[in-house]
Amino acid sequence: MNLDAQQRIGFIGAGNMAFGIAKGMLSGNVLPANIKVSAPSSMNLGRFQELGISVTHSNTEVVCGSDVVFVAVKPHMIPRVLIEVSQHITKKQIIVSVAAGVTLAMLEELLPENSIVIRLMPNLPCLVQEGALLFALGTNAKGADGALLLSLLHCCGLVEEVPETWIDVHTGLSGSGVAFGAGKLLRDSGKHPAQLRAEVCTPGGTTIYGLHTLEQGGVRASVMSAVESATQRARDLGKK
Ligand SMILES: NC(=O)c1ccc[n+]([C@@H]2O[C@H](COP(=O)([O-])OP(=O)(O)OC[C@H]3O[C@@H](n4cnc5c(N)ncnc54)[C@H](OP(=O)(O)O)[C@@H]3O)[C@@H](O)[C@H]2O)c1
Repeated sequence: MNLDAQQRIGFIGAGNMAFGIAKGMLSGNVLPANIKVSAPSSMNLGRFQELGISVTHSNTEVVCGSDVVFVAVKPHMIPRVLIEVSQHITKKQIIVSVAAGVTLAMLEELLPENSIVIRLMPNLPCLVQEGALLFALGTNAKGADGALLLSLLHCCGLVEEVPETWIDVHTGLSGSGVAFGAGKLLRDSGKHPAQLRAEVCTPGGTTIYGLHTLEQGGVRASVMSAVESATQRARDLGKK
């Protein structure tokens, strides 16, 4: 049996990013029966259940039943969640955080000594297997742990191990980049562009800060004016 299919995968947090990764993984060898997701409310759990994934309100249940645990809550929730589950984490499990801006050092500080930690920066096109995912290994993570993660995520898109210093750059470029326009996601999701944009904008997160800067620079007006100018130029050239 394939190694991926034997792994028990947990997600703490059932938001847009957790769903994107889970959906991407299911297009590989990971089985829905081997995934469990937790969130405090039932608001986001239905879409996981529709994929055959089991759900719970208990983060501890997810940790105790998983070999690889993705922590996919908002960055400010990370300390609270890790402290809550810390006593149940073993040295065999791999803890993968997707939280923007939360460093390996911060994660290792919050987790029991010698925990295997990986910092992953995914993006929402994982949903349509077109993601760009970078990860950095923590102090106790070995090459084999990275290889396992890579194998689990390969159907989410391009996945690469990098030095941690690259992760923040990737967050600005690709984690947030989707909000600035992603054709396949738009075409395949059937969603309105404004809805997709909202899904990648974690309130108070990196993407909304980037969008604020774009709006300050008048990006929409610039794009409209650019199309108008080019159209006008084409008309003018046609008259000559
Ligand atoms: N969205 C992106 O494109 C993107 C890209 C790269 C990285 N990230 C990172 O991914 C993380 C999640 O972002 P998101 O956009 O998926 O956020 P989100 O859609 O707001 O989802 C957050 C999830 O966390 C759950 N949650 C809140 N408190 C919790 C607790 N105490 N225990 C367990 N779960 C809890 C929420 O539960 P309810 O369902 O009950 O509300 C919700 O399901 C963030 O750290 C962000 O930096 C996001």
